[in-house]
This record gives sequence, C-alpha cells and structure tokens, in this order.
Amino acid sequence: MGEGVLIVGGGQAAAQLIASLRQGGHEGPITLVSEEGAVPYQRPPLSKQYLSGQFDRRRLLLRQPEYYQSRGVELLLGRRVVSIDRRQKRATLDTGGEIRYDRLVLATGSSLRRLEVPGGDLSGIHYLRSLNDSSRLRAELAAGRRIVVVGGGYIGLEVAATATRMGAAVTVLEALPRVMSRVVSAEVANWVADLHRQSGVRIHTGAQVRGFAGENRVEGVETTGGSFPADAVVVGIGVLPSSSLARECGLREDNGVCADEYCRTEDESVLAAGDCARAVNTLLGTAIRLESVQNAVDHGQVAASVILGNPKAYSGAPWFWSDQYQAKLQIAGVAAPDDETVLRGNPGDGAFAAFRLRNGRLSAVEAISSPREFMAGKKLIAAQVSPDPNLLADASVPLKELLPS
Ligand code: NAI
Repeated sequence: MGEGVLIVGGGQAAAQLIASLRQGGHEGPITLVSEEGAVPYQRPPLSKQYLSGQFDRRRLLLRQPEYYQSRGVELLLGRRVVSIDRRQKRATLDTGGEIRYDRLVLATGSSLRRLEVPGGDLSGIHYLRSLNDSSRLRAELAAGRRIVVVGGGYIGLEVAATATRMGAAVTVLEALPRVMSRVVSAEVANWVADLHRQSGVRIHTGAQVRGFAGENRVEGVETTGGSFPADAVVVGIGVLPSSSLARECGLREDNGVCADEYCRTEDESVLAAGDCARAVNTLLGTAIRLESVQNAVDHGQVAASVILGNPKAYSGAPWFWSDQYQAKLQIAGVAAPDDETVLRGNPGDGAFAAFRLRNGRLSAVEAISSPREFMAGKKLIAAQVSPDPNLLADASVPLKELLPS
C-alpha cells in the first residue's frame, strides 16, 4: 500500500493529480476534500457554452463520478478542511472529523475579489467562479435585458460576448484606461475592445464604481462618471489566491503558497498546485503564480511525479486562451506591461499576432485567430530566442526559421 494522499480543493489541478497518480500506478488511498458539491469540472465554459445553455452540467465534468469510485478515490464533497496539523500530519474538517495523510496537496485555487461598495449585496449582482454561479447568471440573460459588467478582463469580456449573443444590451465598466491590461498588449486589447464595440457592447474605461442603486434588487450602477441602468450586474474584477490554510499552518505564502519547481513547499509532506501556488518555473527562471487551466494541469502532473517518486520539474511555457465572438485569442508566455510589441499581420484583417520582447528576448505571443503563429511562438519562447524584430514582423519569413538550428 502506497502513501495516503489528501487533496484539498477540487478543481482542475486536483483532477489532473488524481488521474496522473492512478495512471502512474499509485495504489495508496487518495482522498479529495472539496467545498463544492460537484466532482471537478471545467471552468472555461462557465462564461461561454455553459452560460449560454449549449453545454449541460454533465458535459462540464472532467470525469464522471463513476471514475472516482472505480479508482478508489474517496470524495468528500461539500466539505472544507479548516485546519492542518503538519506535525501530526492531520487535517481537520468543518464537520470536526480528522483525516491523516502522508502527503497533503493544497489545490485550493483562488477566490473572487469582491467589490466593496454601497449596495454591493443587492440581488441581481453576480460573480462568476463556480458552476452554481454560472447557472444563476444564466437565468438573468435574455434578449433585451440590460447587463452591466464591472471589469474588462477575461470574465467580463467573455460574459459580455456571451450575453450579447443572447440578445442582451451590455455595458462594460473597466477601471483602468484599457481592457485586459493584466494580460495583453495595448494593440491586442484595443482590437478586442473594438470587436466588442462592433458587436454593440458599450465599453467605458477609467470607470470608478461608487455604488449600486436599487431597493432590494439592483437597478443601476453609479460611477464617478455617471449612472448606468441595469437589470443585472456581473462583477469580474479578478481573483486572489486561496492560501489561508497554508498561512495558518505556518507555510510560506507570498501571493500564493510558495513552492519550488516540483510544487514542494518547505514541508516535504506538503505540495501546492494550481491557482493557489506560486511555484518556480524553470523555463521562466522564477517563481510565478498563474491562473490558467494549463498551469493547473502542469502542476497536477508535477505534484503526481513527486509522489510517484520520479520528480519532473515544472518547465513548460505558460499558455492561455479566450474565445470571444468568432475570435480566438491564444497567448503563450508571460509579458510584462512595458515589454516591446512587434506586430505580425494586419489587425484590420481580423487575424494577427503581437510578439512581445523583453531586452530583445521573446517573452510572449498574443495571437488573434492565428493558431500557427501561436504554435510557432510557443516553440520560440521555449527555445528562449532573441529574434530580429524585422524578421518577426515580416509575414513572408516562416517563423520556424527563427528557431536556433
Ligand atoms: P482579470 O484579472 O482577468 O480581470 C479583472 C479586470 O477587472 C481587470 O481588467 C481590472 O483592471 C478590472 N478591475 C479591477 N477592479 C475594478 C473595479 N473596481 N472596477 C472596474 N474594473 C476593475 O480577472 P477576471 O476577469 O475577474 O477573471 C478571474 C479569473 O478567471 C482569472 O483567474 C482569469 O484568469 C480566469 N478566467 C480566465 C479565462 C480565460 O483564460 N479565458 C476566462 C475567464 C476567467
């Protein structure tokens, strides 16, 4: 019998960890504690196909419940771990029960940033993180409804696109001077904002929300620049790592649970994976906390490799995607806001790529409906190249020619 593994959190990282452990021959007990009532599911469709009603609940599940049963995984759903005793290797549940472990994996994800303004708890104000959040929001979206979205990031813009396609009249209020500034260049952000405007979405940047109007239910959003009537509001202003359990049991935490390139914390019995972890990525040469499916999957595999006794370091190029209307945005690498931008292709054609360079080195590629540029860019980032910007910009030069020979 192998080690007993206790996983706290039931998202993508947890699901991958379980699959990799059992595929890798781990025979010891595995227990998953998740405060959500569902087995691990995909979150990306929650702002897209599930929200619009195209996908049903079963289709979201990463694996059906029978999978866990047949693999001998104990599921404690709707339960929370409230404290961890690392000396005794024991976790306490909200029910008071205790679970002993040999290896503990913190895969607690992230939690929503809340907008703390007057009227913030009126009904009709929605946040979107879980399946239940998406089901509730879906009930609000219909033709002619006025939806105000606070935050022009991934959630805000994907919800704006879905709601617009369902016939709602959408307004986006973004605090910063442009949308998506956390994740893309000004060129790509402006292109995405134009796409929304052409689809009928009103976007207001530099918007400071002061409060929500309404008696019992929200009727409008008050900003420093004016009021916006609303039948419903969606707030998507980012997330914070859920690392309080780690902090309370004395593990190092700094914008996420600190971990090395093997997802190991300073306690050899405790690993951290997914959104909650700030683990070292050897390709990037630094510890980084990322909020993405790919990062959660990679961490799940890395953590499993450690438990299986065959550690593989976290070294992949991060990548992200977002579908809005007919456009597919794919990003590889991580750019800093002041990285140089080199465009390849013409934004006016509806398909182009922005390559980002830091001190000459390729840091990221942001591709709009350009999967080949995305794939090639990912390889160039992994090869750590410093390409000639003129060649990058020249669409007649095949990108693979920029790879080291
Ligand atoms: P985000 O960080 O992508 O965007 C938040 C946006 O809200 C930013 O543009 C920020 O400037 C703005 N903001 C912050 N405070 C504000 C305020 N008081 N008023 C107005 N705007 C304000 O976070 P988001 O969109 O909430 O997404 C949450 C999480 O879900 C992230 O981890 C994200 O990566 C993930 N996600 C990823 C998707 C994808 O990769 N396609 C799709 C949906 C969500």
